Amino acid sequence: MPATIIIGSQWGDEGKGKITDLLSADTDLVVRFQGGNNAGHTVIVADKTYKFHLIPSGVIFGKPCLIASGVVLDPAVLLKEIAVLRENALEPKLVIDPHTNIIMPWHQELDAAKEAVLGERKIGTTKKGIGPCYADRVNRTGIRFIDLLEEDLFREKVARNYADSKLLLESVYQQSPRYSEQEIFDQYHEMGASLRSYYGDVGGLVAKALKESKHVIFEGAQGTFLDISYGTYPFVTSSHTISGGVFSNVGIPPMSMDTIGIVKAYTTRVGSGPFPTELTDKLGDKIREIGKEFGTTTGRPRRVGWLDLVMLKYAHRLNGFTQLALTKLDVLSGLDSIKVAVGYRLADKPLQFPLSLKQLEQCEAVYEEFEGFEIDSSLREWDQLPEAAKKYINFISKTLQVPVSMVSVGPARKETIMASSGEQ
Ligand code: IMP
Repeated sequence: MPATIIIGSQWGDEGKGKITDLLSADTDLVVRFQGGNNAGHTVIVADKTYKFHLIPSGVIFGKPCLIASGVVLDPAVLLKEIAVLRENALEPKLVIDPHTNIIMPWHQELDAAKEAVLGERKIGTTKKGIGPCYADRVNRTGIRFIDLLEEDLFREKVARNYADSKLLLESVYQQSPRYSEQEIFDQYHEMGASLRSYYGDVGGLVAKALKESKHVIFEGAQGTFLDISYGTYPFVTSSHTISGGVFSNVGIPPMSMDTIGIVKAYTTRVGSGPFPTELTDKLGDKIREIGKEFGTTTGRPRRVGWLDLVMLKYAHRLNGFTQLALTKLDVLSGLDSIKVAVGYRLADKPLQFPLSLKQLEQCEAVYEEFEGFEIDSSLREWDQLPEAAKKYINFISKTLQVPVSMVSVGPARKETIMASSGEQ
């Protein structure tokens, strides 16, 4: 197929960056289509560790990286990432769509102020201004990349938005804006000038590439259960994280694409919200430590739990996975036994993945238990995996009726088993 979509099947942090990076070797373009610098991915090449929040993972392979209109862009973060790449002698081939909305300082301030007011009911956002920026986008008051490049229009838009956000901050949240209007104008006008050369019609470039039978990767951020509509609302992010989001967020018509679901061998989530398979005991702490489950963006400890096939079945229904990449299997090595949720129960009745948040909070997970296994990051072949590990992988594949084509056993590119098996 001409294109591949990479989607987090859980609540984010499944290891999408590594898989995108790995597949970038054989692709022509890598496109980010939603989210912003709330995402964070770590890519390890040779002995060098790169942490990105915004720039698509394919950048290390020197591939053209495109930021589509569905992204919310913090120019200061992007410029920092470009600087890091240059320090490592990598010049990014970057294109930014003119319709991409810009995260402004008031978005970050409103994000934090809203969370503080919510108290116990807080979402647990990354406080990067993602929600308020998307809110301005649908409210038709946002500032887009193209506006940043047109001085008069930008000045006018800053004035209007600054006045509105100042009123909101002062009257609702009893807070003063951190910067003056002039400071913001000057700083963002300058950053716009530094990014001007990256201006380009992302949708048009993708459409042209696909017409010429080039291969395109669409790199998702966050995960299916953080989707603004189908995730565990309101404990979600503010964009469409599912595969269907690609088309409207890039500006191309729907077409059939290879859709890789990235499945971490266990489940994690950052921030608030229901989590039926959560482990709040010592075992959860152990998996968090071994798996280094601390946020790339915020450093927060991630909540940890068993793999949940009820969630994954719903994720498959939403995304139409054509293959699965199972990540961080090595983290489970050495456990006596491993549990997998195969059903939910509520008031003694079996339940599919419920569409009601209340039911999701109240339901209990029903588990199947698997024998533990010992593996390490040196494994490269499917046949080297212990039988118990194969059984675990095959069970996932069989339940979801989707082949597991990759098994990641360590953070580095080479620590990956290309498994054509899994379905049997
Ligand atoms: P926001 O996207 O900053 O508004 O945060 C909304 C929710 O999404 C919070 O629970 C965040 O922790 C979560 N979130 C946002 N980005 C990521 C990510 O890349 N990985 C995991 N969780 C994320």
